[in-house]
Amino acid sequence: MADRVLLITGASSGIGAAVARHMARAGLGLLLHARGGTGGEKREALRAIAAEVEAAGAETEIVFCDLAEGGAGKLVDAATGRFGRLDQIVSNAGFALSTPVGALGRADFDRSFEVVAGAFVDLLNSALPHLEASDCGRVVAVSSFVAHHAPGGRIFPATAAAKGALEALARSFAAQMASKGVTVNCVAPGFTRKEQSGHSALPDKAWAAAAEMTPDGRLAEPSDIAAAIAFFLSDEAAHITGQTLHVDGGLMLN
Ligand SMILES: NC(=O)c1ccc[n+]([C@@H]2O[C@H](COP(=O)([O-])OP(=O)(O)OC[C@H]3O[C@@H](n4cnc5c(N)ncnc54)[C@H](OP(=O)(O)O)[C@@H]3O)[C@@H](O)[C@H]2O)c1
Repeated sequence: MADRVLLITGASSGIGAAVARHMARAGLGLLLHARGGTGGEKREALRAIAAEVEAAGAETEIVFCDLAEGGAGKLVDAATGRFGRLDQIVSNAGFALSTPVGALGRADFDRSFEVVAGAFVDLLNSALPHLEASDCGRVVAVSSFVAHHAPGGRIFPATAAAKGALEALARSFAAQMASKGVTVNCVAPGFTRKEQSGHSALPDKAWAAAAEMTPDGRLAEPSDIAAAIAFFLSDEAAHITGQTLHVDGGLMLN
């Protein structure tokens, strides 16, 4: 029987996979979600992550779905159906879109909102009674530096708007849930290294420039972001809620 159940969206690569690896232990139930690629080509990647965290003692359940099509609440149903409880959520699935205003169509704009903010509200609506019932209720949303600034002129208008909405929703839900002992926080990564299988909005040479413009001189590793998320999920962080933590090597100082 799992003594704690954690749901992670977008766990097939990068930050979501790093969170799964960081948290894996005996007694943890993990609901791992991904889209599985646009045509199912990344399903094996999520299954491999599941095998890895099971080897570390966690129990897993996998759900594939495209969050652009709605229905994130079914991830909560899958977690509670398998493990009988849901204590913690890491809303991480997302992508960056650099299309500038002038060329940014409503379909792409709406898709960014649906995957990032729409999926988050669907998760919270379905998870609310389970979070309230938990003695370690935690929500962490993965935002982005792009919601706060445009370093080196790098703009991602649709992503910035969707991540800004995500942070506002997280703060509001933090206020709603504080008296229940449930914390709700955001982690805003700076430029973070992509796996080969990840979805990059930047050409390769732009990643080298991104590392150079980061004050500590390097990209974040997915494990850097996972460590901050794990802190928010921990018992030690029980008194911290409604915050956004920038994990960016000082990028916000530019
Ligand atoms: N890397 C960075 O520089 C950076 C910076 C700031 C913020 N972030 C944020 O960090 C989060 C994780 O990014 P990452 O770099 O780890 O990216 P990644 O390696 O490309 O992983 C993204 C994950 O989200 C899933 N996903 C993407 N679109 C989806 C959709 N429509 N429906 C369901 N799942 C979907 C992907 O599923 P499949 O691949 O299985 O299809 C994958 O599991 C994102 O929210 C991103 O905005 C990243």
